[in-house]
Amino acid sequence: METTKKVILTGMQPTGKLHLGSLLGAANNWRKMLDSCDCLFFLADQHAITMPYEPAELRKNTLDCVAQYVACGLDPKRCKIFLQSQVIGHTELMWILSCLTPIGQLERMTQFKDKSKKVGDSVCSGLLFYPVLMAADILLYSADLVPIGDDQKQHLEITRDIAQKFNCTFSETFTIPEPYIGETGARIMALQNPTAKMSKSDPNQNSVVYVTDSDDAIAKKITGAVTDSGSGVSFDPAAKPGIANLLNIYAAATDSTIEKSATQFEKLANYAPFKRTVADAVIAKISPIRDRYNEIAKNREYLLSLLEDGRQEAQKRASKMMAKVCRNAGFLGN
Ligand code: TYM
Repeated sequence: METTKKVILTGMQPTGKLHLGSLLGAANNWRKMLDSCDCLFFLADQHAITMPYEPAELRKNTLDCVAQYVACGLDPKRCKIFLQSQVIGHTELMWILSCLTPIGQLERMTQFKDKSKKVGDSVCSGLLFYPVLMAADILLYSADLVPIGDDQKQHLEITRDIAQKFNCTFSETFTIPEPYIGETGARIMALQNPTAKMSKSDPNQNSVVYVTDSDDAIAKKITGAVTDSGSGVSFDPAAKPGIANLLNIYAAATDSTIEKSATQFEKLANYAPFKRTVADAVIAKISPIRDRYNEIAKNREYLLSLLEDGRQEAQKRASKMMAKVCRNAGFLGN
C-alpha cells in the first residue's frame, strides 16, 4: 500500500552567503529528507526586505542562494525550489492570518525585540508582521514538518497558534505543523563569541565561516576560535561554550553525535590538535560545496529554469489552499 509522504517545507532569507550555522543547522538536515518526504524549499525574499537593504544586492543574493541550495545537495530533481515573491498567496494569506493574530503576541516575539533594538524608531511594521508571513509560508502548503534551527522555534509556535485559531474560529483548514530540529547543529555559535549565535551580520567576520570560504580561511577561523581556559575537551556549554560549540560543529560536520565526538577527543591534553581536526572536518564538508557552487552559479539559465519549475508546482498548491481559505473565511471568491 502506498503511503503519502510527509510534506516538508522550509526556507532561508537570501541575505547573502550561507554560513556554517545555516549549513549545519539547516541545509544539511534538509538534504537527508529528499527521498523520504515531499520537499519544498524556498527563499524568503519577502522576509529579507524587513531590514534595510539594497535592491540590486537582494537580486544577486537571491540567485546566489539558489546556487548554494543546489550545491549543498538539494537536488532539484528530488525537491522543489522556489521564491516566496514569485508565488501568489503568501502575502494574501498573511493578511487574513494577521486579522486573527493579537498584536501583543507579535510585540513579544524575541526576534522582533532584538532586531527592533538595532534599528530603533525606524523599525518597520513588516518586521512586526514577519512571523505572520512565516506562518503563511508554512500553512499555505499544509506542511507536516518544518526543519529549522533553534532560533526559529518561537516562530513555529506562533504558526501553530495561528493555525489552531483559524481552524477553531472558522473550520478545519490548516495542518498543524511540527518543528524538526536536528540533534546536532541546531545552534551554531559565533567563533569569536560562543555565547552568541553565528550570524552573517556579526561585526567580527572571523566569527563566521561561509560555504564560499577558501580552505585557508576556514582553517584560520576555526583554529583561531575563542576557547575557554583549561585544557580538557568535554561538552559543557555553560562552563566551556567555545569547546562545546566546536564539538557541536564537528559532530554535525561528520554526521556523528556530540557524545561520540566528545569521547573521541577526551584524552587530548590541549586544544590545538582538537581545533585542527575540527578545521579539517569543516574543510572536508565545505570544499566540495564551494566547488559545486562556483560551477552552478555561472549557469544563470539553469537556475532560472529550476526556479520556474518550482514556482509552477508551488503556485498550483498555493492557489488550491487559498481557494479553501477564502471560502472558509467567508469571502465570496471568484
Ligand atoms: P534564516 O535565513 O535566518 O536561517 C535559515 C535557517 O538556518 C538556521 N540557522 C541556524 N542554525 C543553527 N545555528 C545558527 N547559527 C543558525 N543561523 C541560522 C535557521 O534556524 C533557519 O532554519 N525566518 C526564517 C526564514 C523563513 C522560514 C519560513 C523558515 C521564512 N519563512 C518558513 C521555515 C519556514 C529565517 O530568517 O531563517
